[in-house]
Amino acid sequence: MSDRLFIFDTTLRDGEQVPGCQLNTVEKIQVAKQLEKLGVDVIEAGFPISSPGDFQSVIEISKAVTWPTICALTRAVEKDIDCAAEALQYAKHKRIHTGIGTSDSHIKYKFNSTREAIIERAVAAVKYAKHFVEDVEFYAEDAGRTDNEYLARVVEAVIKAGATVVNIPDTTGYCLPSEYGAKIKYLMEHVDGIHNAVISTHCHNDLGMATACTLEGVLNGARQVEVTINGIGERAGNTSEEEIAMILKCHAHLGIETNINTQRIAATSRLISSLMNMPVQPNKAIVGRNAFAHSSGIHQDGVLKNVQTYEIIDPKDIGIDDNAIILTARSGHAALKHRLEVHGIELDDERLDKVYEEFLRLADKKKEVTDDDILMLAGADRAESRAIKVINLQVTGGVGIRPVAAITLDIAGERFSAAAEGNGPVDAAINALKQIIRRKMTLKEFTIQAINRGSDDVGKVHMQVEYDGHLYYGFGASTDIIAASVEAYVDCINKFRK
Ligand code: KIV
Ligand code: ZN
Repeated sequence: MSDRLFIFDTTLRDGEQVPGCQLNTVEKIQVAKQLEKLGVDVIEAGFPISSPGDFQSVIEISKAVTWPTICALTRAVEKDIDCAAEALQYAKHKRIHTGIGTSDSHIKYKFNSTREAIIERAVAAVKYAKHFVEDVEFYAEDAGRTDNEYLARVVEAVIKAGATVVNIPDTTGYCLPSEYGAKIKYLMEHVDGIHNAVISTHCHNDLGMATACTLEGVLNGARQVEVTINGIGERAGNTSEEEIAMILKCHAHLGIETNINTQRIAATSRLISSLMNMPVQPNKAIVGRNAFAHSSGIHQDGVLKNVQTYEIIDPKDIGIDDNAIILTARSGHAALKHRLEVHGIELDDERLDKVYEEFLRLADKKKEVTDDDILMLAGADRAESRAIKVINLQVTGGVGIRPVAAITLDIAGERFSAAAEGNGPVDAAINALKQIIRRKMTLKEFTIQAINRGSDDVGKVHMQVEYDGHLYYGFGASTDIIAASVEAYVDCINKFRK
């Protein structure tokens, strides 16, 4: 007999809270449709009261998606719940996720309240949400650091009030896996009526233990896990969805099943990474570029003799297909369209034509255009609507000469040019840019990433620029890393000029 585990995907809520990872509504719909194909049970689509953008996204995702339950986050506050209920009006299956901090430090410092008053607020929020939807999930924020006896009282009270799911977040990623497992076990054994609700895990990765804690939670009775693709999320991130899905697949003897179609994992991971401009670390479990790359001689020898010697997962199980069509300058529209659709991107004819033109330009520079490249091209339309655009960039540099750059920008339809020297070609290009945009900006972070291995590869640049006390995230991609760096810098400027 196998037990069913519900997958609650919070990539579009907890994941999207990461600075620089914000998506527009169209992109969120693309992600939601891909998550539906992946087979998640619940999509947490946003926190509607937090911004008009989040409110609208919950509405549009509700319209776009059929099978998964759409969930909206609230605080234990009536106006939040009203707003969530309105945003969920088109969802075929809907859930309100309300809650409040239950640890002593949250009660004292965040709410200046008492344990009894917090239970009253929790119960009132659940009852209020029940006026709008049948499916109400309650979260006990910082449950990881809440003492088990009090937590059990909170959980019992909210289940009595009608909560269908109770979420036990380790908000700060503090718990040891054994401690978190014991917490779930304690609740399963001490809460009256516990079987009237599903207990959910929600673990953060501050100490690198999120997946282990989640698994312990499941082994002790939790039947929903709150997870994100690629483990993205606040600070060190959330539990990674692909890790939980593959652990349960590889350890089928545990008898716990999910509805995840694991063959869609790789495509989903790439789509999220590309839309959010969030690189996946090469050694990331399951979806990292090196996850299936055997480099030591002994391992290569073993794998060639029998793949099971060193490989516990067949790459095909997560949708990595060695025989995938490689796109080149001779590939047609149909091949490009097909590869994009594999990654959950459906473009109208006009947009497809534009991406195809870009694709041909890139294919002229590179012999083989990879999936990562085309995902980057499909997201590039975001650049078209920006107020500042780079029109020309010329840089000279090399050994024994001081680099010089000349740049022309289009700023809201007017052209401006400047030239400058620098310590290196990127420095010269940014100095030239600063001759035109004369603001006090400081480059705080600068990362260059090549996607594949060839010297003709597309370089992706991630930057953070500080302006007026705030950090702005920017992204650029090009086969020319100096151009990509300038694009990323301009992306930051476009954000604070809005
Ligand atoms: O980490 C957390 O506690 C959360 C809650 C809002 C569910 O994300
Ligand atoms: Zn969280």
